[in-house]
Amino acid sequence: MKKTFGIFAIVLLLLSCEADGTEASFFYDNPEIPIYIPKGFPELNPSVKANPPTLYGVELGKKLFHDKKLSSNNSISCASCHQQSNAFTDNRPQAIGVHHRIGLRNTPPIQNMSFMRFYNWDGNILLLEKQPLVPIVTHEEMDSSILEIIDKLSNDPDYKKLFVKAFGDEEISPQRIYNSIAQYEYTLISANSKYDRVMRNEGEAFTASELRGYQIFEQKCAACHSTELFTDQSFRNIGFPTNPNPDEAGRGRVTGKPEDYMSFRVPSLRNVEYTAPYGSFGQFSTLKEVLDYFDNGVIDAPNLDPILKENGNSIPLTEGEKEELIAFMKTLSDANFTAIE
Ligand code: HEC
Ligand code: HEC
Repeated sequence: MKKTFGIFAIVLLLLSCEADGTEASFFYDNPEIPIYIPKGFPELNPSVKANPPTLYGVELGKKLFHDKKLSSNNSISCASCHQQSNAFTDNRPQAIGVHHRIGLRNTPPIQNMSFMRFYNWDGNILLLEKQPLVPIVTHEEMDSSILEIIDKLSNDPDYKKLFVKAFGDEEISPQRIYNSIAQYEYTLISANSKYDRVMRNEGEAFTASELRGYQIFEQKCAACHSTELFTDQSFRNIGFPTNPNPDEAGRGRVTGKPEDYMSFRVPSLRNVEYTAPYGSFGQFSTLKEVLDYFDNGVIDAPNLDPILKENGNSIPLTEGEKEELIAFMKTLSDANFTAIE
């Protein structure tokens, strides 16, 4: 009799777990979230397949991304600098971390990371899963350590539940933290701007000014800001005013080669309307300033990009062309992407 009751109780327990779905680690369902490849985009970075986003992996990554516990004094999260309403930038010339420390560079948007091959202005990171540790330990950013973070998260029952749902057990390991943050970032895809809708023939059309801007862009800009990502992911010195901080050397910091000195990854121009100021340390407040600079002439250097060299170190533009280019660049704004969910 006793024995029968015991089995009955276990069956009941299992049934109640199944119905609830949140209590037991045995009965959770964590489906993969397929990453949709927008028309004309390059192929996925292979690491997306190695660390495929899942329902709870993304939920966990999103929570971590917005959690100030990731910084030494619990004052800033990833999202403090990467604000969704600004296409995951902060509208500051250079990033500001814990204790108001000013960083070396401008905060780039986080968008379409699934399709990129190089991360950061100098491309020093090749795997998105290896990126989160950089801001976590950087003195001017979060100034913490992965062990300190694991310690803080271990005291939080909500995290324990989420790690179980995302990975099957309670273990809070560095790799699980990095993987879930990357999974969240892989889902941040921006491909629904006016430009995209025009290209997909969804019934919208460029204005006359946007169309002229598009044509000028194709002639004068698309050699570098190419593909549907609006970057060819190459590193180039285009003679922008240089960062006075002696730690800066652009891509040269990574390769040590003189020909890479002050070269930067060509930035995507998607959502550029929301990501001011511009340049690797926010040298330009507006798009108009960037275009005036190209027009007036850039700084010469032995490794200045040939496209600029062949043009007398400039990209000549009339005032009308500048307005049209700006009108075109604003068609790359994706209001759905920046809307807070
Ligand atoms: C203090 C502001 C700040 C904080 C906090 C911060 N970032 Fe960043 N992030 C930056 C800056 C600045 C860069 C560019 C770094 C470089 O090029 O050297 C960057 C670059 C990146 C990139 C590369 C984007 C690209 O286009 O290649 C990713 C991804 C990223 N951060 C994710 C994160 C995550 C995840 C966190 C939290 C763990 C985080 N960031 C915290 C400022 C910040
Ligand atoms: C030779 C390659 C090349 C050409 C041609 C080129 N760009 Fe760029 N562009 C870059 C690189 C590289 C950067 C980043 C440089 C830096 O910060 O030092 C950049 C930066 C920018 C930025 C700042 C973006 C940001 O997020 O900070 C804008 C805006 C821009 N370019 C627009 C244009 C427009 C418009 C044209 C055509 C008139 C153009 N570019 C032509 C390579 C190029």
